[in-house]
Amino acid sequence: MWTKDSLKDVIKEKLKDHLFVVISNREPYSHIHSENKIKCVRAVSGAVNPLDYIMQVTKGVWIANGSGDADREVVDKNDEIMVPPENPRFTLKRIWLSKKELDCYYDGFSNGTLWPLCHLAHIRPNFNHGEWECYKKVNEKFAEAILEKVGTSKAFIWIQDYHFALVAKYLKAKRPDLVVAQFWHTPWPAAEIFRICPWKKEILEGLLANDLLGFHLGYYCTNFFNSIAKELEAKVDHERSTVSYKDHTTIVKAFPIGIDYELINSLAGKSRKTRQKLTEKYISGDYKYLCLSVERVDYIKGTIERLKAIDRFLEKYPEYQKKFVYLGIAPHSRMRIPMYQNLLKDIKNLVEKINWKYYSDSWYPISFTDDIFSIEELIPFYKNADICMVNSLDDGMNIVAKEFIAAADREKGMLILSHFTGTARELSDAVLVNPYDVEQMADAIKNALEMPAKERIERMGKMKEIVKDKNVYRWASKFILELSSLKIPPVLPK
Ligand code: G6P
Repeated sequence: MWTKDSLKDVIKEKLKDHLFVVISNREPYSHIHSENKIKCVRAVSGAVNPLDYIMQVTKGVWIANGSGDADREVVDKNDEIMVPPENPRFTLKRIWLSKKELDCYYDGFSNGTLWPLCHLAHIRPNFNHGEWECYKKVNEKFAEAILEKVGTSKAFIWIQDYHFALVAKYLKAKRPDLVVAQFWHTPWPAAEIFRICPWKKEILEGLLANDLLGFHLGYYCTNFFNSIAKELEAKVDHERSTVSYKDHTTIVKAFPIGIDYELINSLAGKSRKTRQKLTEKYISGDYKYLCLSVERVDYIKGTIERLKAIDRFLEKYPEYQKKFVYLGIAPHSRMRIPMYQNLLKDIKNLVEKINWKYYSDSWYPISFTDDIFSIEELIPFYKNADICMVNSLDDGMNIVAKEFIAAADREKGMLILSHFTGTARELSDAVLVNPYDVEQMADAIKNALEMPAKERIERMGKMKEIVKDKNVYRWASKFILELSSLKIPPVLPK
């Protein structure tokens, strides 16, 4: 069993004389103005917890885009601040991006091109030369900041995600001795999909500058190998899970991300809030069954399909009317992008239509909130839900499904899970659905609610064991162990 302590041992043994640097687009802590004060808020994202912990143990440096409206007021002359605020242990170095850079690199190439390209949700990616040029420049800017910070020290650089496909290339061009690894948090698409990208070769070459490249699933690694085979003159060694290109070899492996099961499970055990109290701000009146979803507003999440399924469920099984309610916890992100604004409008219109259709005696079935909750605040919702619906059209892993399993009451809760999430490979005891099949999802809601107690306890029990075992400390430890086993030639910069 991998724990926080065993991860600490791995870090101490393997990373001892290296500076540990993480880069991500979103910062782990941001500073915002709130009620005439400056408040520090922690990002709510699956990977932030373990990375934060690694940084605290290694006392490393985390480089990210400063996006809080008070961020500039609290940093020193090097744009740095020690975090976490209650017990400062590592350096957060903020990179400032102009409005144009945010438009072109973040909204544009990262979220308008790579995001729809990597997720099979039938949304056409936008290919724009100017945005691609800007994306490259921003990647170079982050690479320069890393090099400046590292100086001549030995260092491990851990790049997060699709915002930085070219950072490894820029780093290695100047410091081939650095150990550089990247974790790609989204799926990697089939080669037939990836091939439409006009800059496919540059993206693949950029990623192959890493010494280690991680995906959530073996399936994404296979897709990546297939893209390589189609686009580059490179040698793929399936046996050793490596790609050799020009004079460099990259290990490409699957590291399925997990969660801090023990923490979530113990917080759930301590949570005493009653269901009615918990939901009174969002749901008026009484109800018997609570169906929950937790996700950023995003077309990959299948929200429209879920609403249609709930409509069909209430139509087909009218005995659930006035007893069943659905609460969508759906914080907003990327809302400058028209596709996201339109999705939000479509969701609102559909909610209004369905609620009006069933409205009776002050009861209506669907409620949404864009409130942002910390994990401690979310856990009581998971614990009190009869069903959690995760019906993404495509999703690299999906952390919410795992958080729900860790927090839920095994006698009461049940997960409805899309086949097209990475998590479905592990949580096959959930009620699995094809999110495009509205009729099947409507029946899945009924089946989940009416599942016999014995079967529910067994299935939830099995899933809890899996989530507990494949936890986030295992993910981080395995990645670091692989990273530290790499033999990087000790070439020092000229
Ligand atoms: C999801 C993805 C991550 C990505 C994050 C960015 O959680 O799974 O791969 O890094 O979104 O979200 P943001 O709100 O920062 O655009």
